[in-house]
Amino acid sequence: MTRVEILFVPPAASGDAAFLAEATDLINRVYADAEKGIWREGTERTTVEALAGIVRAGELAAARVDGHLAGAVRVQRLATGEGEFGMLVASPEHRGAGLGRRLVEFAEGWARDQGLATMQLELLLPREWEHPVKEFLRAWYTRIGYRPVRTASFAEEFPGLEPLLATPADFVVYHKRLSS
Ligand SMILES: CC(C)(COP(=O)(O)OP(=O)(O)OC[C@H]1O[C@@H](n2cnc3c(N)ncnc32)[C@H](O)[C@@H]1OP(=O)(O)O)[C@@H](O)C(=O)NCCC(=O)NCCS
Repeated sequence: MTRVEILFVPPAASGDAAFLAEATDLINRVYADAEKGIWREGTERTTVEALAGIVRAGELAAARVDGHLAGAVRVQRLATGEGEFGMLVASPEHRGAGLGRRLVEFAEGWARDQGLATMQLELLLPREWEHPVKEFLRAWYTRIGYRPVRTASFAEEFPGLEPLLATPADFVVYHKRLSS
């Protein structure tokens, strides 16, 4: 029987080089596939240093299956008052078994515990073609209650990152009202 556990990574793990390397590798591997064609070859989603900062802030939750790292999600409280989740990943070996759903529920549970009324996520979408992973995410997030509230040009919003894009892209902000 498999044992699934989702817990916040303790801030002290920002000094755990082995954990950071494993988690950074998982996130970058998953995103290299999930955002293929959107970024220039070799663009990575995160770095050990950036992830260490997220862990230090107490914002990273990790999913472990039988003790092995199998997924992650980052949560944060936005200055505008919403909760936000991002960097949602499930390792390819554990897809389709409910891990992604449990990570989202964990993030939403955290936001409710913080007394936040709204959860936000952002989806990066190529403007001129349909990306199969993004179309799956768009349909799934809609099924679980998220609605688009704003679309912006990625290049205009993040001009410093534009040179890394391989194709014009928009990001769509989704919100879900959390029931208490
Ligand atoms: C998004 C992601 C975390 C989901 O992980 P997962 O563990 O496979 O998710 P789950 O098993 O909980 O399934 C999520 C939903 O997809 C559906 N699903 C899963 N695998 C499927 C498949 N092969 N075909 C069709 N639907 C599928 C499930 O039925 C579920 O829908 P439901 O909640 O309406 O029942 C994972 O696909 C991933 O890491 N993707 C790449 C990274 C990424 O794009 N992250 C999001 C950035 S915004």
